[in-house]
Amino acid sequence: MKKKLIFEKNVAGRRGFSFSKDDVPRYLWEDFLPAELKRKEKLYFPQLSELDVVRHYSRLAEMNFSVDKNFYPLGSCTMKYNPKMNELAAEERGFSQLHPYQEEEDVQGMLELLYLLEKVLVEITGMEHFSFQPAAGAAGELSGMLMIKKFFLQRKDFLRQEVIVPDSSHGTNPASATLAGFKVVTIKSSQEGLVDIDALSRICGSRTAALMLTNPNTLGLFEEKIWDMAEIVHKQGGLLYYDGANLNPLLGKVRISDMGFDIMHINLHKTFATPHGGGGPGGGPVGARGKLKEFLPLPLIGKSEDRFYLEYKLPNSIGRVRSFYGNIPVMVKAFAYLLRLGKEGLLRVAEHAVLNANYLKEKLKNYYEPATDKPCWHEVVFAGLKNKTTNVRTFDIAKRLIDYGVHPPTVYFPLIVKEALMIEPTETESKQILDEFAGVMEAIAKEAVDNPQLVKEAPHTTPVGRLDEAKAARQPQLRWVPPSA
Ligand SMILES: Cc1ncc(COP(=O)(O)O)c(C=O)c1O
Repeated sequence: MKKKLIFEKNVAGRRGFSFSKDDVPRYLWEDFLPAELKRKEKLYFPQLSELDVVRHYSRLAEMNFSVDKNFYPLGSCTMKYNPKMNELAAEERGFSQLHPYQEEEDVQGMLELLYLLEKVLVEITGMEHFSFQPAAGAAGELSGMLMIKKFFLQRKDFLRQEVIVPDSSHGTNPASATLAGFKVVTIKSSQEGLVDIDALSRICGSRTAALMLTNPNTLGLFEEKIWDMAEIVHKQGGLLYYDGANLNPLLGKVRISDMGFDIMHINLHKTFATPHGGGGPGGGPVGARGKLKEFLPLPLIGKSEDRFYLEYKLPNSIGRVRSFYGNIPVMVKAFAYLLRLGKEGLLRVAEHAVLNANYLKEKLKNYYEPATDKPCWHEVVFAGLKNKTTNVRTFDIAKRLIDYGVHPPTVYFPLIVKEALMIEPTETESKQILDEFAGVMEAIAKEAVDNPQLVKEAPHTTPVGRLDEAKAARQPQLRWVPPSA
């Protein structure tokens, strides 16, 4: 390879500096690439100034909907505010500058934080241990299902291959059970929108590995017969998995273990105001009690005297489900939020989550059809417009909300409610915002009768109108072409 000293001329020389070649890395001064590999055409970079680039991205950011800018009443998936204090805590150099390969001795502060966070989660839920490995709620579910699988395999109970999920469950529940190799058995909800106990008794048997449930359920209703369900499943030798997505209305009120659950995950973004992971990168710690805790993903956090360590000696663990020890910034944010709220604050979270959802239910029930007569918990589901004479559908209402500066609620879920419109105001919104939202919903309900076309063609204020959403999700166009191009 022909060596040529190019550094002096091309880099330092052009800038008027004089460096010796020993001062800089070899790749900068030695022309060691074979000629046949070198590009023939000139390198092209778009000619943009910094200002052009800043304006481009600022414009794009302004086109975005975000919790920081708009009301975001997304039922079930829960977008609550992301406190700036949490961000500051996660940005602290002591956390943000750590390297995952650092020695345990160097990361004692971070391990202590995880240790204390686990203690708080244990206190809230009644589980005995948590693993911080899973990177989202769905990843927590999959970990939990793999733990249940291994638990029964180890007991040589090979028959237990079924996981029961209600027909109101979130799509990730059957998906996680299937991914873990279980057969999903769907149980129908009763007229009231709750699990049908008689149907559960009939379905549950020696093949049942687990019942997977979220409580309050996705209709925002509390499964009052949860003890009966736990008894039925446990009597048959099965386990109870708690999908912790709907934990916020129970904070400080009910321990998950006291409802009979053996294993669970927590969606930190829903309950403790960390950014939503969307399948990751978020935080979905998985917790367990009794025999099941031996199967938690590695590593757990241990403490001996005043030293914290990563515990890898768990022979029954399902192993790792993510790299290193979990998504640390998310854990720091959740812990900061917990410290800020304290016990009293957590109770207020639960109460306000329920109050806000019921307030909206009452404000909207004359225009939208409540899916059930019962008081709801943290979210309220409507079966579309009350006035069925118009051809305006839930989808149209969701799109029209965008024109009013509101993010659409979750639509067409849960699947058991026709024209479902699922609203979760969250505990962190003020009465003023809820009143404004109710006013907008009322205005849209009136438009649906007086000027249905206006609603059916919404949104009118966005850079793009209605999209082929399936195509947009499957074949996203990631290059932005400015309208003038
Ligand atoms: C009831 C329920 N379970 C599970 C999940 C999955 O959680 P994640 O989005 O964190 O993967 C969601 C969605 O947010 C949900 O609403």
